[in-house]
Amino acid sequence: MVEINHATKVVVLTGAGISAESGIKTFRAADGLWENHAIEDVATPHAWKKNPELVWNFYQGRRNQLTEVEPNPAHKSLVTLEEFLGDNFLLVTQNVDDLHSRAGSNNLIHMHGELRILRCEQCHETFDMMQQEHLTADYVACPNCANQRLRPHIVWFHEMPFQLPEIYAAVEECDIFMTVGTSGHVYPAAGLIDVAKQAGALCVGVNLDEPMNYGMHDEFHQGKAGELLPNLVDEWVS
Ligand code: APR
Repeated sequence: MVEINHATKVVVLTGAGISAESGIKTFRAADGLWENHAIEDVATPHAWKKNPELVWNFYQGRRNQLTEVEPNPAHKSLVTLEEFLGDNFLLVTQNVDDLHSRAGSNNLIHMHGELRILRCEQCHETFDMMQQEHLTADYVACPNCANQRLRPHIVWFHEMPFQLPEIYAAVEECDIFMTVGTSGHVYPAAGLIDVAKQAGALCVGVNLDEPMNYGMHDEFHQGKAGELLPNLVDEWVS
């Protein structure tokens, strides 16, 4: 049974499932992104070197989709939770869409990067680039240096997720760890629940199917995040 007050420390880990009801495909569903694209062709540093055009077009398609989707009630309910908990709340997302921030989440870490952002591999600057000219471009040149080809600011397979020290520090300290819409296939994200559990946190899950790490959850709510999460959060904060 979850009981929270303003001093309760909560970390929420979200995955593709929370954006599914907004119309963004998950990765591992039958019609998911990884059924239609080989990971090694579009989501590795090697692919970017070997066939940048294919990789660029794949991410340009996903960047363009951001202009057609909106946050859903699940994204919004996490804003309600953050408003209640303030700095005791941290949202860690594996999603590269911008729906959490557009919903209004602030204490937010994009551990797998962000579609909105492009990065220069030469001067290491990042740029938020969602203007039409960038969304339709074959490649985007770095505004800062001579590099003609910015890369997506995405953590590809074989690369290190962002802000791991901050994530682990928060998970080790939290009272409640919650997973939403993630299948538990991809590490280190999938292993955060082990860290939380060892630290004594109550682990709560909301997911359409049982995730790989289902057994680590103390409380599991099976169904759609957009339907279940707003009710859960309302119960917690009332
Ligand atoms: N509500 C809740 N859960 C849902 C919903 C929904 N409406 N729709 C789908 N799901 C669940 C699915 O049952 C599945 O368990 O969301 C999960 C999505 O799993 P994945 O497609 O594996 O996505 P995710 O866990 O985010 O993948 C992790 O893998 O390829 C990488 O970098 C990519 O960040 C991604 C990582």
